[in-house]
Amino acid sequence: MSDGARLVRRSLELLPPGDPVASPAADDASLGLNEGVDGAFPSALAAIADAVPRLNRYPGRGSDVLVSALAARHDVQPTQVVVTAGADAGIGYVCQAVLDAGDEAVIPWPSFPSFVRDTQKRDALPVTVPLRESRVDLEAMRASVTARTRLVFVATPNNPTGLVIPRDELIAFVAALPDHVLAVIDEAYFDYLDPVGRLDAIADIVRVGGDALVLRTFSKLYGLAGLRVGYAVGPTAVVAAIRKVQRGYDVGSLAQAAALASLADTAEVQRRRAANGVAVAALVSTLRAHGLEPLAGSVANFVLVDVGNDAGRLAAKLLEQRVAVQAGEVFGAPTALRIGAGSDADLALLDAALGVVLDNRGR
Ligand SMILES: Cc1ncc(COP(=O)(O)O)c(C=O)c1O
Repeated sequence: MSDGARLVRRSLELLPPGDPVASPAADDASLGLNEGVDGAFPSALAAIADAVPRLNRYPGRGSDVLVSALAARHDVQPTQVVVTAGADAGIGYVCQAVLDAGDEAVIPWPSFPSFVRDTQKRDALPVTVPLRESRVDLEAMRASVTARTRLVFVATPNNPTGLVIPRDELIAFVAALPDHVLAVIDEAYFDYLDPVGRLDAIADIVRVGGDALVLRTFSKLYGLAGLRVGYAVGPTAVVAAIRKVQRGYDVGSLAQAAALASLADTAEVQRRRAANGVAVAALVSTLRAHGLEPLAGSVANFVLVDVGNDAGRLAAKLLEQRVAVQAGEVFGAPTALRIGAGSDADLALLDAALGVVLDNRGR
C-alpha cells in the first residue's frame, strides 16, 4: 500500500518530522522548554473562569480587545499589532508574508529553530551565521545580507545562550540594513530582563519607524505556554500582510482573556522577574556542584552548558530520572544541554538526577 509520499511537496524532505513528542509527566521536572516556573497569573485564572461559559462562541476574530490593550501599552497604533498563537506562529506568519521561494533569511546559529524551519517551509533559504564566542555576530550577519535577503532574524536574549545583543549595536544594525530587508527581533524573554538599560525593540526601533517586527509572548514569565498566545508589533503594512495570511480564529477566547488580564498585573511581573534571577543563580550553583560550568551571563530563564559529545545520551539518561532538559543538537549546539530554571522541587530533582547520571557516566 502506498504511504502517499509521492503526493506531498518534495521540498518538505528538508524539514524534520513533526511527529507528536511526549510531554514530561506532571510531577517530572520540565526544564527543556524554557517554560515559566509559575502558572497563570491569578488575574488570568479569574478571567479564564469568567470566559468558560461562552466557549460555544468563536473567539474575537483578530483579538481586537487584546490588540487595543497592547497598542495602548506600547504606545503604537492598533494597526501595528497582531496577536498570534504564541510568538512561534508570528515567526511562521512573517515568513509567509515576506518570503517567496528562493529568497534568503539571515539567521544566527545556534538560535531558535523555527527561524530556519519556517524559512524552509516557504522554499526560501536559511543563511545561518555562526555565533562568535557565543554571541550573535552582527557584523558577519550584515555581511551575509544579499540582494535576495528579505528577513534577518535575531532573538535577544538569544535561545539557547540566554545572552542579549547590546542595545545600541542592535539599533544601529537594524538602521543600517538595506531597504529590502525586514528585521525580526524575537523578544520572547524580554520580561525577564532588568528594565534598567534593556533594549525595548518596540519602543526603541518600531516606534521610531524602524523596519522591524518585534515578537513577544505570554508563554514565559506570564505562565501561559499551554494557551498559545503571543504578539508581533511592526510597521503597518507588514502587520496588515500578516493579518492576511493569519488563520481566521488563530487565538482562542481563553487565551485572549488570560493575556488581557495578565497585562494589568505589573507587580506580579516584577516579582517573577526577581524570582527568576534567584532561580537561575541556584541552577548555576547546582550545575557547578556537579562539575558542570554553564555559559556565563544568561539573563533569560535557562542556561546552556557544554557537556561534551554525549549530550544527547545524557539528556536521555536525565529523562529516565524524571528530568527533561533539551539536548542542543536541534539548535546547532550538539555538545550542550539547555536547562531551564525550575521550581525548588525541580532543582532538587535535577540535583539528584545529575548525581545518578554523572556518577554512572561512561558505563
Ligand atoms: C526565542 C524564542 N522565540 C519564540 C519562542 C516560542 O514561544 P511561544 O510559546 O510564544 O510560541 C520561544 C520558545 O521557547 C523562543 O525561545
